[in-house]
Amino acid sequence: MSLYELFKPKGPSGFGYGSTAEQVTEGLSLEGKTILVTGCNSGLGQEALRVLALRGARVVGTARTLEKAKAACEALDGKAVPLACELSDPASVRACVAAVKKAGLGLDAVICNAGIMALPKLEQAHGIELQFFTNHIGHFILVTGLLDQLAGDGRVVMLSSGAHKMAPKEGIQFDNLSGAKGYTAWGSYGHSKLANLLFAKELARRFAGTRRTANAVHPGVIKTNLGRHMNPIASSLFGLVGPLVLKSVPQGAATEVYAAVHPAAATTSGAYLADCNVAKPRADAEDPALARKLWEVSEKIVAGLGAR
Ligand SMILES: NC(=O)c1ccc[n+]([C@@H]2O[C@H](COP(=O)([O-])OP(=O)(O)OC[C@H]3O[C@@H](n4cnc5c(N)ncnc54)[C@H](OP(=O)(O)O)[C@@H]3O)[C@@H](O)[C@H]2O)c1
Repeated sequence: MSLYELFKPKGPSGFGYGSTAEQVTEGLSLEGKTILVTGCNSGLGQEALRVLALRGARVVGTARTLEKAKAACEALDGKAVPLACELSDPASVRACVAAVKKAGLGLDAVICNAGIMALPKLEQAHGIELQFFTNHIGHFILVTGLLDQLAGDGRVVMLSSGAHKMAPKEGIQFDNLSGAKGYTAWGSYGHSKLANLLFAKELARRFAGTRRTANAVHPGVIKTNLGRHMNPIASSLFGLVGPLVLKSVPQGAATEVYAAVHPAAATTSGAYLADCNVAKPRADAEDPALARKLWEVSEKIVAGLGAR
């Protein structure tokens, strides 16, 4: 338990900073539900997968390799389907979509949880900055590919971050998606997390008039493998302040699980959630024109990838 959670009150949902994924699903039966989680072999994704399976859901766990996905699924007590989905490799993402379709898996929720953070130097995939490609474009290909499999009341949950506020102040840099005109580790991470938010926003707009929902979440700040690229000084500071402010992994997985399965969130769409409650992102994350433009540009990028 961190010191901070002792002082942070619960929100209108009845849950808050200190709630865990087990607590937000207590008493729920997810029997008959199928839920896909990306990045299932580590951190928040692994915990989300465990708790969803614990509540009776059939989980589809994806990881960069089939071996990692299998190991995560085999560790569970429940029904689990492991699949490879390397988000920086469009062919792998498309193969994952094809495998879900081939297995006839209808999906009640897709949790786009996988991500990378603050790469020290500019790296690219297919000419696009790697965090933007992995965190946003890879999930864009996955989710748009899986829409036919999504239930009539299916939910899409995007893992964004409070770090979306570190995105460049002009929002999405459509003239610098490669990163070549300027790159900072945190600015580019924030850029990708702003894209996650805007993607959920535009998807929610496209779902309007249906019972499908799309939301983005900030899970909190949690010590996981996500920090692997942080410099050693920042990492040790993180370790020092951890007991005061950091969430545990079970607490960190709560908001994504809440958004994916809690009955009270069934009609919440186009929102940004933190601590299992609706929160306020930065202003341009709610700009419908920016969200639409990002969708259109993402479609063009994906079309430009061809069969790659
Ligand atoms: N932890 C935090 O404080 C925090 C705060 C805000 C937002 N978030 C968000 O929460 C999500 C989960 O993060 P976490 O803290 O649980 O981190 P984590 O422990 O590092 O887990 C990230 C997962 O994403 C996977 N992944 C990374 N690159 C991938 C790729 N190219 N293709 C497919 N999978 C890939 C990782 O696979 P490998 O293990 O094989 O690398 C891992 O399974 C991320 O989207 C992150 O941005 C976390």
